[in-house]
Amino acid sequence: MSTEEDSRCEIRFYFDGRVRILDDVRATDMVMPWLRSEAMRTGTKEGCNEGDCGACTCLVGSLSESGDLRFSVINTCIYPLAYLDGAWLISIETLSRSGSLCSAQSGMLPLNVSQCGFCTPGFVMAILYAQITKKVQTPEQVLAGNLCRCTGYGGLIEATRLAQSQPLDKDFVAEIEGATAVLRKLSRGGFSIVSNNSRIDAPKTLEHLLDLRNNFPSATLVSGATDFGLWITKRLDRPSHIILAKFCEQLLSIETRADVIEIGAAVTIEDLENSLVSEYPELQDWFQRFGGPQVRCSGTLGGNIANGSPIGDSSPVLIALGASLKISSCHLRRVIPIENFFIDYGKQDLSDDELLVSILVPRRSHIRRLAVEKISKRCDQDISIVLAAMAEIAGEKPRYRFAFGGMAGTPKLAERTMESLNPDDLTSDFSPLSDHRAEAWYRLAVSKNLVRNFLDGESSRE
Ligand SMILES: Cc1cc2nc3c(=O)[nH]c(=O)nc-3n(C[C@H](O)[C@H](O)[C@H](O)COP(=O)(O)OP(=O)(O)OC[C@H]3O[C@@H](n4cnc5c(N)ncnc54)[C@H](O)[C@@H]3O)c2cc1C
Ligand code: FES
Ligand code: FES
Repeated sequence: MSTEEDSRCEIRFYFDGRVRILDDVRATDMVMPWLRSEAMRTGTKEGCNEGDCGACTCLVGSLSESGDLRFSVINTCIYPLAYLDGAWLISIETLSRSGSLCSAQSGMLPLNVSQCGFCTPGFVMAILYAQITKKVQTPEQVLAGNLCRCTGYGGLIEATRLAQSQPLDKDFVAEIEGATAVLRKLSRGGFSIVSNNSRIDAPKTLEHLLDLRNNFPSATLVSGATDFGLWITKRLDRPSHIILAKFCEQLLSIETRADVIEIGAAVTIEDLENSLVSEYPELQDWFQRFGGPQVRCSGTLGGNIANGSPIGDSSPVLIALGASLKISSCHLRRVIPIENFFIDYGKQDLSDDELLVSILVPRRSHIRRLAVEKISKRCDQDISIVLAAMAEIAGEKPRYRFAFGGMAGTPKLAERTMESLNPDDLTSDFSPLSDHRAEAWYRLAVSKNLVRNFLDGESSRE
């Protein structure tokens, strides 16, 4: 199946005052190399090339359904170039097109925040994103996805606080107005580019996406690319055919019904936070510990589940909440409890022609208490050693669901402990591994303490 839109064989996006049209984009192309080597905008720096340091941070603006411009902060080193289609790319150079520094930059000057200056453009972009979104967050949370290796953070935190209290510069507001008018004339998604032994499909409908999965089962499905990007830049994979999920409208919606919240698989962690925290306020702190702002703006809930990682953060939370997964192929639609999706390490209940369409999260009504505890070496932007999600389910006799990441080859319920309510039974539920993050004994000890504290009704955070 193909629509008129899908016959487009190029991407179009707005950058530095004009629309760029690229017809030779390859499956492995990321934004940062294009910016630095093709567009010759070298203000954006390359640090780690794996989404960790924020040196390559830029913003992307795209039109929402209501026609307003929505912004994301991205790590351009792992952001596929093809995802710029129909969007506005904002690099550090964009901010000085009027000839003067913006307030996120000029506020930094007297604070001596820069020595080698390598990290500075990335910090400016992260601060600008906070200034645009006006989200209530601490400067430390704003900067969690950016590293400075030589200056220290005192001045950066002060500069962030200052920028958060200031309105956007007039020059940038004018840029926004100009970009919005241009984006209204560009469509987003719905193209297929075959170039240099590579193919990229970007379907806009679920039917077309499933059709492509059916016809090309060996093509790589890409959602937010925060895993995929690293396969390209670090593992040096060279996939010849990718199918992009994030232009497909049915995968991007969040629908709240009487009994359930249905979340499209391509909803980003950032958008998920906005809808799930109002139902489960206990998740607020956990969301802030999921990657940094750049990872949350790109990474999707579907990708976090489908990658099957035993240390993915969302799966234990969803298991504890009793969520289900809607999975589809051209031929079959099915709904399964999320815990049944994880068969073994690296093995999920998903065939090559299927995809995860949405996640069904029960409404609050039957959950009396919820706690999510992430144990990691660093507070910001770190992968879990153990993630415990514990729910008390209301009833004449309360029931419990304890789900863990980092304790087995898959995210898993602690079934025996849920029955006995004896934390020592975790030793029967799990035989965790020792690795560079933690020893097995530590994982068991910390998990027992988390369950004990939850059953005692205490917060384990102190
Ligand atoms: C710096 C950094 C920090 C991170 N921090 C965290 C963290 O704190 N916690 C955490 O859990 N993870 C973290 N991650 C890992 C990653 O960001 C998440 O797992 C993310 O949610 C993956 O989603 P994605 O959309 O980017 O997946 P992608 O990279 O697009 O895809 C991942 C896999 O899922 C498959 N897939 C994607 N969507 C679907 C679908 N709808 N149906 C079927 N298969 C699908 C893809 O084919 C691929 O195999 C981090 C990553 C980086 C780079
Ligand atoms: S270069 Fe480090 S996040 Fe991109
Ligand atoms: S000023 Fe050198 S890395 Fe930050």
